Amino acid sequence: MTVKEIFESMDYGTAPESAAEALTWLVDQGAQFGHFINGEFTEAGEGFDSRNPATGEVLASLTQATQAEVDAAVAAARAAQPGWAALGGYGRARVIYAIARLLQKHARLFAVLETLDNGKPIRESRDIDVPLAQRHFYYHAGMAQLMEAELPDREALGVCGQIIPWNFPLLMLAWKVAPAIAMGNTVVLKPAEYTSLTALLFADICQQAGVPPGVVNIVTGDGAVGEMITGHADIDKIAFTGSTEVGRRIRAATAGSGKALTLELGGKSPYIVFDDADLDSAIEGLVDAIWFNQGQVCCAGSRLLVQEGVAETFLTRLKARMDKLRVGDPLDKSIDVGALVDPVQLATVTRLVDANTAGQVHRAACNMPATGCYYPPTLITGLAPSDPLMQEEIFGPVLVSTTFRTPAEAVALANNTRYGLAATLWTENVNLALDVAPKLAAGVVWVNGTNMFDAAAGFGGVRESGFGREGGWEGLSAYTRPRGATKALKTVEGYTGDGAPEGLDRTPKLYIGGKQARPDGGYSRSVYGKDGGLLGQVGIGNRKDVRNAVEAARGAAGWARTTGHLRAQILYFIAENLEARADEFARRINGLTGAGGDAEVAASVKRLFTWAAWADKYAGEARDVPIRGMALALREPVGVIGAICPDEAPLLGLISLMGPAIAMGNRAVLVASQAFPLAATDFYQVLDTSDVPGGVVNILTGSHAELAPVLAKHADVDAVWCFSSTPLSGVVEKESAASLKRTWVNHGRAVDWAGAAGEGRAFLEAATEVKTVWVPYGE
Ligand code: NAI
Repeated sequence: MTVKEIFESMDYGTAPESAAEALTWLVDQGAQFGHFINGEFTEAGEGFDSRNPATGEVLASLTQATQAEVDAAVAAARAAQPGWAALGGYGRARVIYAIARLLQKHARLFAVLETLDNGKPIRESRDIDVPLAQRHFYYHAGMAQLMEAELPDREALGVCGQIIPWNFPLLMLAWKVAPAIAMGNTVVLKPAEYTSLTALLFADICQQAGVPPGVVNIVTGDGAVGEMITGHADIDKIAFTGSTEVGRRIRAATAGSGKALTLELGGKSPYIVFDDADLDSAIEGLVDAIWFNQGQVCCAGSRLLVQEGVAETFLTRLKARMDKLRVGDPLDKSIDVGALVDPVQLATVTRLVDANTAGQVHRAACNMPATGCYYPPTLITGLAPSDPLMQEEIFGPVLVSTTFRTPAEAVALANNTRYGLAATLWTENVNLALDVAPKLAAGVVWVNGTNMFDAAAGFGGVRESGFGREGGWEGLSAYTRPRGATKALKTVEGYTGDGAPEGLDRTPKLYIGGKQARPDGGYSRSVYGKDGGLLGQVGIGNRKDVRNAVEAARGAAGWARTTGHLRAQILYFIAENLEARADEFARRINGLTGAGGDAEVAASVKRLFTWAAWADKYAGEARDVPIRGMALALREPVGVIGAICPDEAPLLGLISLMGPAIAMGNRAVLVASQAFPLAATDFYQVLDTSDVPGGVVNILTGSHAELAPVLAKHADVDAVWCFSSTPLSGVVEKESAASLKRTWVNHGRAVDWAGAAGEGRAFLEAATEVKTVWVPYGE
């Protein structure tokens, strides 16, 4: 072959990375692994093989954990936790720093082992997975160091159960373990059954780094072991990354257990190319969006939306680029696309694509290896938004696409999904980019870039992509709780009495869409004071009233786009109007509860000032990320929040939930204190005179037990808060599983509404979602 011919064909030679060191490590371990419990490897037991998906070769045999082994791991974590927390931030920072250093020292070994086990190209494991894992431990060594100074009111949750998938085995481990142990928790982690080897190598590193026994425990096995962890009574928090289906099951299984939960689930993330984009860059971006890790990426840009005017050119160039992708031996440093993780995943991808009859399919004209779990890079054009492949997560190297005409249409198509994990947009017009980014329903938005991650930048989704963030300051709230003991909350009953309403018989109303509305069922009940005297009547709301209130709240979406300044003014105005009627409200509260009216009204006015103060001050931050540009952590309202108000503080409780919700731009559907509802119904008039737009605050009265599950189930409610004294936390969590909405519940613990616990950052966090927007900035 002449030099000229080589240049013309651009054929390439292979550049295989040696597997020797990783294979030696496996042999040294006997190629048989038990679990890592209390700082030691256990004897290997019955289990299953871990195979290299590129060749089918068995790499090692793994143990399927038994209930007794999971119990032992949890017991070790429990025993170690107080000592680990007591070590202090500096003590933990030193250990976590040592882990980061050792990950760096053994980077090549980790990269090769990861590629052998998972099938991802060595280029990726070497340049992305392992460096990002190191970065996560460095960053969180810093968080441990700063915890006492910066988070003085927070403490560790305790023992965390962590269940991770197979697409980024070491990186997902780092995302879970680093923040957990930084905050003083101990962990029981289960890697995915296909890819446990780097987790076991990590256990080896923990021993070398001086991680005290029991702080990190690793048990291997399949979903059954995952269930043992999620169902374990002595675990305080579950962190899960994986499929939406399993996430939903875990939500239902942990409901009412008091366990904290974060879920990072699937996606069908849009990749939007506007007609003024730098098309060649957008195509290279697309290679990273959907062929990175064979498309087995939860935030993969798997749905291409390209503007009509450039669609033909773009797709032609894209196909040409696809045909040049090199598919092959993952250990070859020259390849672009490796093997799928397992024959099961290959079968899933094949089945999904084969079932599709719509559009036109282009398969990359690249050489495909004869054996192994390989699937060709595939593009399917001309799909309709409702086609299954436009909606379902394929989790393979398959890109689906359609076109759009206007930015508004792009946004509508982008948001036409049950998911909301990530979105990419590509345009040379900064105005367009910054106009579209806030409109996308996604936890992460990349502008002129894609699939960028960093420990300082929060990652996580909205809608059915789950809840909670990993990374950044916001990621720490998932691993901490407010410091201090809590008291149990007793059920608060209203008083009973007799006597019928006198005089004109006014039908008691609900407050929906800025108007007083009769309850749909037409029923009402009498409310009595401590002395048994009749105080008044309230309507009994039903599911139809909830639907109407949610519809009104949905209709008031413009509230989310108002300025914090305007929202502050309205909150101050509510405070002013409440204070003008302070005596009347105080008498009402005294009548309802027996005492404390003056103090409760004064505290309510003060609390409204707090939320007015915050309305324009809980903005985002720019995060220092070590790759290209910056990441903006923007705080967006959650949407429509359904809140079951506390019984015990009929006015202050309602204000304490309404305040942060509307200050941050949410609309609220509030269910008033069941025991003492009349303070809330009096409050309608304060709202009427305070310029609150109709639909922003809706108030229902009625039975908490009946209304809470309706709110939790409602598909158009984005979050449910429940501070009822009726024990409803479990019901709310369970009923929210179908739509995977965020919940914030009291788990039967009392809140001192008049004290510091009745306001503060926990409320701000519950009322907002962090959207991370990556933008080019500087060089
Ligand atoms: P999966 O959600 O079943 O597995 C993820 C982890 O959960 C594994 O460690 C598994 O052992 C564990 N698990 C399974 N069932 C469980 C249960 N009932 N309770 C507790 N833990 C359980 O995902 P799988 O089967 O590996 O992949 C299926 C599909 O899920 C993929 O085709 C893809 O569409 C999606 N997926 C999405 C991921 C993401 O990051 N968004 C990651 C992995 C898979």
